[in-house]
Amino acid sequence: MTARTDNAGRAPCPDVDALRRAFPALASGVVFLENAGGSQVPACVADAMHRYLRETYVQLGAGHPLSRRCTATVDAAHAFARTFVHARRGHAILGSSTTVLLNMLASCYAQVLKPGQEIVLAETGHEANLGPWKRLERIGVKVRWWRVDPATFTCPLDGLRELLNEKTALVALPHVSNLLGGIVDLPAIVALAHAAGARVVADGVAFAPHRAIDVEAWDVDWYVYSTYKVFGPHMAVLYGREDALAELPGPNHDFIPRNDLPYQFEPGGANHEGCAGLLALGDYLKLLAGAGPDAAVDRPLVETAFAHATALEQPLTARLLDYLGSKPGVRVIGSPVADDQRVGTVSFTHERLSSREIVAAVDRTEIAIRNGHMYAYRLCGELGIPVEDGVVRASFVHTNTMREIERLLEVLDGIL
Ligand SMILES: Cc1ncc(COP(=O)(O)O)c(C=O)c1O
Repeated sequence: MTARTDNAGRAPCPDVDALRRAFPALASGVVFLENAGGSQVPACVADAMHRYLRETYVQLGAGHPLSRRCTATVDAAHAFARTFVHARRGHAILGSSTTVLLNMLASCYAQVLKPGQEIVLAETGHEANLGPWKRLERIGVKVRWWRVDPATFTCPLDGLRELLNEKTALVALPHVSNLLGGIVDLPAIVALAHAAGARVVADGVAFAPHRAIDVEAWDVDWYVYSTYKVFGPHMAVLYGREDALAELPGPNHDFIPRNDLPYQFEPGGANHEGCAGLLALGDYLKLLAGAGPDAAVDRPLVETAFAHATALEQPLTARLLDYLGSKPGVRVIGSPVADDQRVGTVSFTHERLSSREIVAAVDRTEIAIRNGHMYAYRLCGELGIPVEDGVVRASFVHTNTMREIERLLEVLDGIL
């Protein structure tokens, strides 16, 4: 792939091989196509965590210089996360995973929701954004399912319209399903939910590695993603809009002021060395954006970096989808078109071969893919997919290459 200027006239998109050199693991020869499960990290992230542990591993908030440095790192990581999601009217809460953060959020809502109030759950959701809300049925909250249309692999807006009413407190949905790969119209969903007086909890885990998050533009109340799927340490970020945060009691100690945000929602604090790694991701984003090492890590930089990521990824998705479309017996689970509304997470099943068989054969090569329900358990059931066998999923990020995709297709050709 050669360098090029992107359509918006921003800095040229770097060569993919130059980007790959930033990731030590990519030199191993393994073809990483299980990125929706977790991505690799650039050396700058790994080095920053290593350095933090060796040089500044003390507790926050004391007056001595080392502690002041640690506190500054953790504060700067929060600021980075706010820039990353474009949080102008809210806070970035750091936690150990999306599952943990959503459980925490649901336990906060359990204290303010009343019996008879309703929560709408999209059937396309990952269990992390379903289970915590379903468990609120124990306090008398009613769950209403926003049904998936198996023909289009989407939850239609009309379906949501029919479910919303004055009792609806929350709508929980994935911005992108980790099985289907399609990007939903989040601003339209938020507008509908807000018109009914409901808050929106969007799971951005499968979106975040591929596009720039913009909670400000989407006006969403809660937005969560896992940093370990976006070239960072094993953590997660939960954005909460100011007014949504103000409605909830945080889970931290009683003596911590309610307006001490985001700390009120970070019981035990954030992972400190993880914060160092998260912050260092800014250096990689500079490279991806084609900016110099002295560039500021600001919104334009984040947006340019992800515009480049999209441009690098889309041809790979198109190639795999074209190939699968040409294979008799293959059912692509999700949109078959590699357009702007789709990320490079591609799932399929085969009418004769089990997903397990296909992946077992691929596993014998140095290509990492996966089969299963991927915790989109309900979705698999609704789509008539045997849940334990699930789908075959290959998921790309911008550091994958066409050479790697051709290798996968060669192996698949021998199996299908
Ligand atoms: C779409 C989606 N949501 C939520 C999660 C859960 O994320 P975590 O592992 O950070 O709890 C995943 C993990 O694979 C996911 O793909």
